[in-house]
Amino acid sequence: MQKGEFLYEGKAKRIYATEEPNVFWMEFKDDATAGNGQKRGTIGDKGRINAEITQRVFEHLERGGVRTHLLRQESPTVLLVKKLEMFRLEIVVRNIAAGSLVKRIGLEEGREMPEPIVEIYLKDDELGDPLVNDDHVKALGLATEVELAALKAAARKVNDLLRPYFLDRGLLLVDFKLEFGKEDGQIVLGDEVTPDTCRFWDEKTREKLDKDRFRQDLGGVEEAYQEVLRRVDEPHA
Ligand code: TMP
Repeated sequence: MQKGEFLYEGKAKRIYATEEPNVFWMEFKDDATAGNGQKRGTIGDKGRINAEITQRVFEHLERGGVRTHLLRQESPTVLLVKKLEMFRLEIVVRNIAAGSLVKRIGLEEGREMPEPIVEIYLKDDELGDPLVNDDHVKALGLATEVELAALKAAARKVNDLLRPYFLDRGLLLVDFKLEFGKEDGQIVLGDEVTPDTCRFWDEKTREKLDKDRFRQDLGGVEEAYQEVLRRVDEPHA
């Protein structure tokens, strides 16, 4: 497959066309941002590590019956993916209180949720990706009631598949963000699943092994990303 015209650039990836109209070239970058772009930097080898992790995780999800945009890994930092009509929404699932949930509703960090919490955010950098409810989504015309129910069900299914997958690898899946699109009217998981978009804690020590090390200047950022990839490839016996 040939890399074609540059289409757009996000904070962590660049998207190019290919000779196939329905196939995109998704190139993962080492760039890292936090706080809606206020903090910027690079994380060495992140592009390759995140491409590898997304490829492994999406294959696992496909085996579990979740449709994803992944076609194949083309090179160390490149995944070939299906073109989707993306929802302008971010779906966050939370198993353990951390991050903005702690700030917003005052739960202590580390508190296990009785049931996974599903949240919807508007994907809009200028507005700072605000938390929205179902009525907001419908008022904005971003998804129908039926689509919203399907998005939430798909996010819960991803959680059900990924919690044991990461626990087998000594990692607690604290929370994560998903982006979905549509292909032929069907809901399909797009974007990535990586330490940029998930919180992972070591099961035993609860050490943070994700982008919070960058967000909170904890050091050992590159090592944490490498450790997640190493564990993805070496589940517990
Ligand atoms: P939060 O606690 O900051 O709301 O983040 C929840 C999860 O979503 C966390 O795993 C990080 C991920 N996330 C993104 O991938 N992109 C974003 O823009 C935000 C705000 C969170």
